[in-house]
Amino acid sequence: MIKLAKLEEAKEKLGICYPVLDAADLEELPSKHFDLVTCFMSLQDIENYEDAISGVARVLKNGGRFIFSIPRPCFETIIVDGKRISATARYFGATSYPIQWNMERLLEPFQTTSFHMTLTEYSATLFKNKLLISRLVEPRPKQEGLQKYPPLREVLATPQSIIIESLKIIYHTLILLNTEVQTVK
Ligand SMILES: C[S@@+](CC[C@H](N)C(=O)[O-])C[C@H]1O[C@@H](n2cnc3c(N)ncnc32)[C@H](O)[C@@H]1O
Repeated sequence: MIKLAKLEEAKEKLGICYPVLDAADLEELPSKHFDLVTCFMSLQDIENYEDAISGVARVLKNGGRFIFSIPRPCFETIIVDGKRISATARYFGATSYPIQWNMERLLEPFQTTSFHMTLTEYSATLFKNKLLISRLVEPRPKQEGLQKYPPLREVLATPQSIIIESLKIIYHTLILLNTEVQTVK
């Protein structure tokens, strides 16, 4: 994917760099530099997601946004023998599970590992790093998408993914003085 992106950049120069890094070690990127960091369906596959999130917080400018999507932690599913089944037996108590990727469109099948984290764990790690959740969306397939790809019906009743937007907050101190309030009769 990066190879293709670099070819596109060579064709039409937009000034985009594609460093290949461990997401849990962003040390070579400058602090307070980016307006937006996005992570599409990947945070759940990053074993050290806490270091990844603290790295994101460091490289974001104050007021910058971190937007990521993950499989909906309450309803994580995997496809085994063509059937969608629950990926984890329990919600609390982190576990990891393998995912087999063997769709026809792939050049060759491969396996990845997903790490189940609860929404509480994601939210606590964001909060610890001064990333305040500003929006949360559970996408549903549109009619147009359903017509194009009917198996999407399976995720009409329960969300397959969740998109979370968080803002790097800047603290301002507000001192409330105990003042007498007079009411006009
Ligand atoms: C489910 S795939 C999604 C990939 C891509 N975002 C997409 O939509 O096609 C998750 C990706 O996370 C990557 N990944 C896992 N751990 C990582 C890490 N520590 N640093 C960078 N990438 C990682 C895996 O290599 C895998 O490509």
